Amino acid sequence: QSLKDLNTFRMDVTAKKIIFIKTIQSLIHILQICKISQIPYIILGEGSNILFLKNYRGIIIINRIKGIKIIEKNNSWLIHVYSGEKWHDLVKYTLNVGILGLENLALIPGCIGSAAMQNIGAYGLEFKDICQYVDIISLNNNILSNKNNTIRINSNSCDFSYRNSIFKRQYHAESIIIAVGIKISKKWHPITCSALSNYIKSKYITAYKIFNIICKIRIKKLPDPKKIGNAGSFFKNPIISKKHAQQLISLYNLPNYPQINGSVKISGGWLIENCKYKNIQIGDAAIHKQNKLILINIKKATSQEVLQLAKKIYSHILKKFHIRLEPEVDFIGSKRKIKASDIFK
Ligand code: FAD
Ligand code: EPU
Repeated sequence: QSLKDLNTFRMDVTAKKIIFIKTIQSLIHILQICKISQIPYIILGEGSNILFLKNYRGIIIINRIKGIKIIEKNNSWLIHVYSGEKWHDLVKYTLNVGILGLENLALIPGCIGSAAMQNIGAYGLEFKDICQYVDIISLNNNILSNKNNTIRINSNSCDFSYRNSIFKRQYHAESIIIAVGIKISKKWHPITCSALSNYIKSKYITAYKIFNIICKIRIKKLPDPKKIGNAGSFFKNPIISKKHAQQLISLYNLPNYPQINGSVKISGGWLIENCKYKNIQIGDAAIHKQNKLILINIKKATSQEVLQLAKKIYSHILKKFHIRLEPEVDFIGSKRKIKASDIFK
């Protein structure tokens, strides 16, 4: 079965089987079969943060477990959302019912489960800032034979950091996110950041205006996966030591963002733009013109072409700036996810 329409990079690969699930019960049923028969499986939302490296020799489970419950508290709203809901639909839904606070994360592709796993972020807001809890099914705790099957992980135990969480690390292989709890204060205040300040001229700003501005910027700057294959930023913006950053800043006037712990985040897009191999293309795999952190599939790129391009960028950045870029996308091999450190050496 073809996976081409189920990954935004539009890699033309296949899986032994693709199953869309709409209920927790059917998910558990499939997981039981996979466990007993030792069939490899991977759960996906919209496939907007992955690169398939090969045909997948197992079951691809497409999560469509949906539902949104809103609980009103004195000073806040608590939103319980199932993991197969689309992130942007939730942003629109909350704004439509007058719950303001998710607007900075407008138009990010993908589902709720991956948003938590990935700790999505944009324009000054990250998922962790609004997360109250994450409900998971853990395949390690014999939960599969238990009818009351979810475990609640409080936000402060999720170990969220930039595009990372506990679910990406130790829980990676054995947990599936079922739902999340999002807490939004009733007292709205705008979140602005340097990337937005050019667009926000008037003092009178509303959540709806921020939503519209961000949608406009994103439509202008980012490639639309419906038209051109991509998975957003292929690499993360690197976070380096203050000393290393100072050396680079004294040589080049590059965009840099000091972090609370003293380290400095720098623009990976700038690094790629300013290394002399910026215009490389391998087969149909290329670098997006407006944002160099994004790799695109012009038409019929293979995963090997994308990977070759990514490796070339990685080694040039290492040579010129002594920085090891870290991929943001997850790599999926023929039976399991492949660690980035096994690919980029
Ligand atoms: P998928 O690609 O389907 O899955 C990603 C990973 O999560 C996989 O390893 C998968 O196995 C795992 N996973 C999926 N569902 C579950 C679950 N229920 N339980 C456990 N594991 C699960 N990201 C940002 O943070 N900020 C941005 O501004 C941004 N902009 C983007 C713009 C474009 C044009 C594109 C294409 C991508 C962008 N991204 C951005 C990346 C992407 O949208 C996010 O990472 C998103 O959260 C991925 O969601 P998904 O459902 O498509 O995940
Ligand atoms: N820049 C360049 N060249 C480039 C790209 C960026 O010089 O090719 C410099 C510019 O100075 C620019 C600055 O970097 O002003 C920031 O660029 P931009 O606002 O486009 O953001 P980004 O760092 O490229 C990050 C996220 C995006 C997120 C935006 C907005 C990562 C890896 N990417 O991109 O998330 O939407 O900020 O907040 O952190 C994603 O994760 O897939 C993604 C698209």
